[in-house]
Amino acid sequence: MNNHTLTLAISGAAYLVAALMFVLSLAGLSRHETSRRGLVYGITGMVIALVATIVLVVQNASSLAVILLLAALVVGGVIGLWRAAKVQMTGMPQFIALLHSFVGLAAVLIGWNGYLDNATIAPELVGIHRGEIFVGIFIGAVTFTGSIVAYLKLSARIKSAPLVLPGRNVLNLGALALFVVFTVWFVVTPALWLLIAVTVLALLLGLHLVASIGGGDMPVVVSMLNSYSGWAAAAAGFLLNNDLLIIVGALVGSSGAYLSYIMCRAMNRSFISVIAGGFGIVAATQGDEETGEHHEITVDETAKLLAEATSVVITPGFGMAVAQAQYPVAELARALRDRGVNVRFGIHPVAGRLPGHMNVLLAEAKVPYDIVLEMDEINDDLPSTSVVLVIGANDTVNPAAALDPSSPIAGMPVLKVWEAEEVIVFKRSMAAGYAGVANPLFYRDNTRMLFGDAKVQVEEILRALSDVRV
Ligand code: TAP
Repeated sequence: MNNHTLTLAISGAAYLVAALMFVLSLAGLSRHETSRRGLVYGITGMVIALVATIVLVVQNASSLAVILLLAALVVGGVIGLWRAAKVQMTGMPQFIALLHSFVGLAAVLIGWNGYLDNATIAPELVGIHRGEIFVGIFIGAVTFTGSIVAYLKLSARIKSAPLVLPGRNVLNLGALALFVVFTVWFVVTPALWLLIAVTVLALLLGLHLVASIGGGDMPVVVSMLNSYSGWAAAAAGFLLNNDLLIIVGALVGSSGAYLSYIMCRAMNRSFISVIAGGFGIVAATQGDEETGEHHEITVDETAKLLAEATSVVITPGFGMAVAQAQYPVAELARALRDRGVNVRFGIHPVAGRLPGHMNVLLAEAKVPYDIVLEMDEINDDLPSTSVVLVIGANDTVNPAAALDPSSPIAGMPVLKVWEAEEVIVFKRSMAAGYAGVANPLFYRDNTRMLFGDAKVQVEEILRALSDVRV
């Protein structure tokens, strides 16, 4: 066996091990208890894959290509490390959206390279090769611009309201039909103008698909773009003849699609409607106007109420992440449990800005897993709960979703906190949540507002609680 064949065999084996690591990683990440192990598998798989790829390139490519590869690795690695170290937990969704856009852009560039590169292709495979170029560019470009719009919406650089163009569904379907026509045409006659046309078409489609989706549905969009980025990577894998890229792309693509499906079910949204850019969703009509008079509560009154409660449910949301209130909140839960109060957490599947956002924060603050319950597990217990503390949550506890069919978020399952005896809402103002929809919870007779930063207020309650004797 010569050197080249040996390297090929070793890198093939390394790719197989890396692929196995990625499968184990996904399995590990599916449960709290095994998620750290899942991460370690993922990192190991990525290191093996990178080393094997570098060895392959070093063996086969010119020294200029090797220098370029190493330079890209160092520059990309340094920027990645720097950004990942700096990013706040609240900025993760937009950071992830930005990373998806890079995968999309890479797939577009690889597609273009597949066209411009004069590699010899067996005559019977030429048609397939051209088809691969088109599919790679199309998925990549949709992912690229779609992710940039998602990034802009999530970081509040543009408004999160859906863009409703007249005939938007026809526009999307038309773009898809045109893509099919262009692909067939390109397979027969590979003209440069077709390549430019499909790139522009897909870039515009990506923009429109994500711009058409409203703030409330953005969580699904992020996981859908995650899925698209996987398929874009798989398409690039076919073009580059790289088995590992195909496997990893398919893993990311299918797990992202399944996550999007689960999230759609949790939010009572149609999967098809969301992936088709809000297909069939009627534009929201309700504004964020006030709907009555609200009542406030002080820190001391809250502490007294909590000390006298038999059961307390805490429903955290994005505001808890903004305030970084998870540590005092965990401390409050401990203090109340020490007093014999039954304390549990109720987590909405899209609370915060990322799937599992609240679970991560609570785990970070060492809240025991067994008192952290899913929305479906806690909802039936809410009518018999003495006090619910809504800490920086808004859309996920909005009764309009369950009770008002004309609400833009009608049908989305929510935590039915209003059914408890007393509800205390921690927030800084009467402003609406992410979906921009008014929340009638704030005006209910059994709701009290505790204004201010959630972390400061919970710390104050902890201090006040130590003075309360029951
Ligand atoms: P939101 O509806 O976004 O409400 C967050 C609340 O926190 C706001 O009412 C805000 O009110 C309050 N807040 C902000 N900073 C605070 C601070 N320092 N102290 C106290 N309160 C503070 O949150 P949610 O209930 O978690 O719902 C999540 C929303 O985001 C849903 O619409 C969901 O669809 C969307 N979304 C979710 C995801 C995922 S995957 N989870 C991804 C993208 C979008 P004030 O400004 O008045 O303080």
